[in-house]
Amino acid sequence: MTSTLIDGIGLLVTNNPEVGSLTAERHDAAVVVENGMITWVGDSSGAPAADLRIDAGGRCVIPGFVDSHSHLVFAGDRSDEFEARMVGEKYAAGGIRRTVGLTRDATDAALASNTARLVAEMRAQGTTTVEIKSGYGLNTIDEARSLAIAGQFTEEITFLGAHVVPAEFTDDPAGYVELVTGEMLDACAPRAKWIDVFCDDGAFDVDQARTILQAGQARGLGARMHAGQLGPSDGVRLAVELGAASVDHCTFLSDADVDALASGSTVATVLPGVEFSTRQPYPDARRLIDAGATVAIASDCNPGSCFTSSVPFCIALAVREMHLSPAEAVWAATAGGAQALWREDVGVVAVGKKADLVMLDAPSYVHLAYRPGVPLIHRVI
Ligand code: NIG
Ligand code: FE
Repeated sequence: MTSTLIDGIGLLVTNNPEVGSLTAERHDAAVVVENGMITWVGDSSGAPAADLRIDAGGRCVIPGFVDSHSHLVFAGDRSDEFEARMVGEKYAAGGIRRTVGLTRDATDAALASNTARLVAEMRAQGTTTVEIKSGYGLNTIDEARSLAIAGQFTEEITFLGAHVVPAEFTDDPAGYVELVTGEMLDACAPRAKWIDVFCDDGAFDVDQARTILQAGQARGLGARMHAGQLGPSDGVRLAVELGAASVDHCTFLSDADVDALASGSTVATVLPGVEFSTRQPYPDARRLIDAGATVAIASDCNPGSCFTSSVPFCIALAVREMHLSPAEAVWAATAGGAQALWREDVGVVAVGKKADLVMLDAPSYVHLAYRPGVPLIHRVI
């Protein structure tokens, strides 16, 4: 087995919870990696010998980003909707149906190649773990094949048959919920780790969301949820009540929602690229953190509400627009994302964890927000 020593790390973000401080940073650090795992972390001066050596040259090293929310299996683009929003149009859930039509018509090969292109974009921007949802098939065959395609790229596969009610069920939403929790779930549960519901205006209400998530949980899937994106609802509290791993968007939050998130184990995942791309108000992630909730940051990369694959961009937005410190934002996009996926092997640089590391072309992670839009990813390990 070949071991690799990465030394000369000017600043290392470990996020190691045993150290005490949030990002548990080390200066002049080194890491030894063997067989994809971290086997040693310490001072550069005391590093053991290894077969290979990478000199970080004083650069900052952070855990690879854990992007816990994306919709990469789709065809087509909706740049016209974005253009209309920038001159005053509001984002509405209905646009999803346009992508459903194009996705159903696309071949497996076309969908896989679009997904591969986006995963490569993410990787080049420092993402080493990505969750990918279905949700543009909305019938049994197209949801199942979307999950199979997602599975070519990640283990974090989410069944989102309940994205919106497809056009052919407009007059029978209850019938669609029956399909999602019946035949579609039978076909999709074996291919997924998670079940998700878009609980919002124009999508599914809280009762439907409960039915769908509980059906998925009964089949062994973990629950996650889109809630509070387009308006206030009881969806956020439902996610906490059901023990969901994460509730995502949280753009509209009541006092009761904040209390529930602060006292439960459900991660609040904020997606600041969505507010950037829809001109909605940013979620109050500052308030969530101050209340004691766990916050993750993810891209939500999708053709409608937010077509960025860049976690660094989302970090810059979280710092500038949501008042997170750079350290809080980097933690939320690494360790926070890992918690949102119930993963203990990523998001942390410590012995026994996966060696998913990102070397920045900068002396500090602060530069991710200080130098927005600049490609600072020097190397992904
Ligand atoms: O997370 N809100 C629901 N789903 C996506 C948007 C999907 C789309 O517009 O195509 C989201 O924002
Ligand atoms: Fe989403």
